[in-house]
Amino acid sequence: MNIDTIGDWKRTNDCGNLRRDDIGREVVLMGWVNRRRDLGKLIFIDLRDRFGLTQIVFDEDFDEISHDKAAILRSEWVIAVKGKVTPRLAGQENPDLPTGDIEVKVKELKVLNETEVPPFQIDGKIDASENLRLKYRYLELRRPALFHNLAIRHRIALSIRNFLNREGFLEVETPFLTKSTPEGARDYLVPSRINKGFFYALPQSPQLFKQLLMVAGFDRYFQIVRCFRDEDLRADRQPEFTQVDLELSFAGEEGVMDVFEGMMVDMFSKILDYSVSRPFPRIEYKEAMDLYGSDRPDTRFGMELMDVSDLLRSSTFKVFTEMIEQGGVVKAINVKGGASFSRKKLDELNNIIVDSGARGLFWAKLKPEGWQSTLNKFLAQEIRSAVEERLGTKEGDLIIFVSDMAKVANEALGLLRTEISKRLDLVKDANYSFVWITRFPLLEYNKDEKRYVSVHHPFTAPLEEDMPLLNERPEAVRARSYDLVLNGEEIGGGSVRIHNIGLQDQIFNILGLEKGEVKKKFGFFLEALSYGAPPHAGMALDFDRLVAIIVGAESLRDVIAFPKTQRATCSVTDAPSPVDKDQLAELGLSLLYP
Ligand code: AMO
Repeated sequence: MNIDTIGDWKRTNDCGNLRRDDIGREVVLMGWVNRRRDLGKLIFIDLRDRFGLTQIVFDEDFDEISHDKAAILRSEWVIAVKGKVTPRLAGQENPDLPTGDIEVKVKELKVLNETEVPPFQIDGKIDASENLRLKYRYLELRRPALFHNLAIRHRIALSIRNFLNREGFLEVETPFLTKSTPEGARDYLVPSRINKGFFYALPQSPQLFKQLLMVAGFDRYFQIVRCFRDEDLRADRQPEFTQVDLELSFAGEEGVMDVFEGMMVDMFSKILDYSVSRPFPRIEYKEAMDLYGSDRPDTRFGMELMDVSDLLRSSTFKVFTEMIEQGGVVKAINVKGGASFSRKKLDELNNIIVDSGARGLFWAKLKPEGWQSTLNKFLAQEIRSAVEERLGTKEGDLIIFVSDMAKVANEALGLLRTEISKRLDLVKDANYSFVWITRFPLLEYNKDEKRYVSVHHPFTAPLEEDMPLLNERPEAVRARSYDLVLNGEEIGGGSVRIHNIGLQDQIFNILGLEKGEVKKKFGFFLEALSYGAPPHAGMALDFDRLVAIIVGAESLRDVIAFPKTQRATCSVTDAPSPVDKDQLAELGLSLLYP
């Protein structure tokens, strides 16, 4: 093969693989000037490529011509060198560098390309703004940290493909130019030139197509696939993101969970040499809200929410007793070692939950002399002891109480639990804690739209035992759905699907979709269900987020080669951008806003 050949020079090695054993060899290296140190007679250059760094030396006594040429080299020039691998002088070795025992003495230098001065330094600490870094993303991608993330991303994708292939899954591509599917976000629309006035939607997920593949008898489908959602961007969202999308026939919850657990065990052992134990714990949505105040709890630490309403009912503290009488609750958490929290810290925690809509918190510090708390005079000693017993407190702990309606109290304490875990650095160990959250509500009432909407999507099957409630109390019906949560982040979700056309019709009806509208939007799909659809279930994994957790990245942007900005723009290409009037005319479009 003629890879690695420039003219009559063939690259013999990359910049990361020369070792002591190579001493004496004649080599050809190609790469970027990372850093140059000019000591007069000797010029040292760290030559960089994606594989690493190798120190190359231009020695006036060894080869005067290349030494003189090297004097003009600058950072980020692209060069090729021919030379001899030699040991570094004793004491000059660099144990932090895999190539740190050797250097290459240059006999011949070829400048392959010069460069403009880069807008920021590639080597060392980067001090440029995120906007500038995104504009010159291809330069930022030269930095090893970012490259490393993308290389691991590649390995993770490979491990998933291999695993699913072994399990009998077939990767099938589904269309990008398609029709809207209801995943709850806005669609990106693409105008059709040939069918003027008509639009494709970029898929929010391949949901309907993968179900059609089940009708087609494909049995086990997967796809590592881009999805498009026009959402208001939160920090952890991207308008185009990647899912590992999967669907299985003749399977239910257990089948899907089994495949994903197997995939995680395989991937974590291959990529991180980390042993994940299975089965992953399963918690029903309602229990997760009660215990953790969140449907994506971080289960690496305890601090569970405890209901203490029954104990405080007999206190004389009106805030608590009145709330309980009105049907509310008093819930509490035990912050181990939290008795040392300052009043300022406690005020900050209070502000966090007040901002989120709760009334506020009460606290008790467990000091050697007893409770330090404004609640003391309202809570008899036996009530305090009973609270301590329920929460399993010890001296030095802090109890935080929130009294509100159950939903508000749970969510407030859930927020505090997460915040406190960060402040106390409770999860610094690199361990991974998976949990399935199951049986979410099937439907929720949307006040703005004045109708029920699907919590997951309208193709999710209701739990058999809750079916009798479908018409009278739709909000009480639980779904055969499941989310996979890793270290407090939702990394995927899915459900058992409705494969019966009658039930699917009934759900559309409850969602307030008129027959005509249903036919227009999903007629093709309902028709397909009528042609022998097998029972099926599936799930999609948020691939970007999984990679971010594995590499320890703070943002999804750190694991995507060319991510979008907070304003959903591409800084490299400046997309989206205006188009010519002619191009619009060809599509039969004109703009309302010039
Ligand atoms: P869902 O809508 O739950 O399910 O999406 C699956 C996973 O994708 C993540 N996700 C996103 N990640 C980054 N940026 C975004 N804009 C974004 N939007 C969603 C979610 C979730 O973990 N078709 C179903 C799957 C199925 O039922 O099989 C679906 O797409 O955090």
